[in-house]
Amino acid sequence: MMRGWIIPPPKETTKSKEDFKKEREKKVGWLIKYGYLKSERIKNAMLKVPREDFIPPLYRDYAYLEVPLPLPGEESTISCPHSYPLFYEPLGLNEGHKLLEIGLGSGYGTAVAREIVGPDGLVVSVEIDPLTFEFARSNLKNAGYSDIVLVKGDGGLGYPDMSPYDRVCITAACIEIPPPLIKQLTIGGRLIAPLTEHGIQNLVLLEKSEKDIRKKVICEVLYVSLKGKYGV
Ligand SMILES: C[S@@+](CC[C@H](N)C(=O)[O-])C[C@H]1O[C@@H](n2cnc3c(N)ncnc32)[C@H](O)[C@@H]1O
Repeated sequence: MMRGWIIPPPKETTKSKEDFKKEREKKVGWLIKYGYLKSERIKNAMLKVPREDFIPPLYRDYAYLEVPLPLPGEESTISCPHSYPLFYEPLGLNEGHKLLEIGLGSGYGTAVAREIVGPDGLVVSVEIDPLTFEFARSNLKNAGYSDIVLVKGDGGLGYPDMSPYDRVCITAACIEIPPPLIKQLTIGGRLIAPLTEHGIQNLVLLEKSEKDIRKKVICEVLYVSLKGKYGV
């Protein structure tokens, strides 16, 4: 059990590359059928990135189940497969965007985002847990992603060196949206995050304009808590 999710028991990997490919295609079909996945770029990215390669061997057989799975590090998880279109569709993540991700985790969502933004875009991802950071770094290297900016540290502070960002994606639950992240967002930019409000977590989308910040609640979610300066 992990914060309300039932985690399946660890076991040796029994599935082949071909089994995983079939499961990936089936999962993408399911995400389209149930309305999570709409855009062609996100669909193609999810078909391309082998999610199983971002999961520790003892949980790899469960790669396409709708459960978060444990990663090396303290309370780190790879999110359920539906989480990625759930975040990236409202974010309107697209070709050429500069994305700042807070919570690298396994590196899977980072790789999917890299495929979406394409060669004219950029992905910067920050992870606070050193063990998780090393796990993701090695997964991304093995999968051939050498042009993602990986930063070890507190993502609540953002990464001002490469700001401003067109999009910001926070993958851990916040009690407030860290102000540095709003500051580092471009005018017209969007930020998505699980936000704890009145004891529940809402996935919220912020849109920054010259005048103000507009906020929209998308749905209720369940994520591990943000750590660091703006953490719980
Ligand atoms: C749900 S997991 C991310 C899953 C990831 N998207 C994936 O595809 O595997 C949330 C991650 O946020 C990280 N995290 C928590 N607080 C953080 C902070 N202040 N800065 C950076 N990373 C943080 C956790 O260590 C964890 O790895």
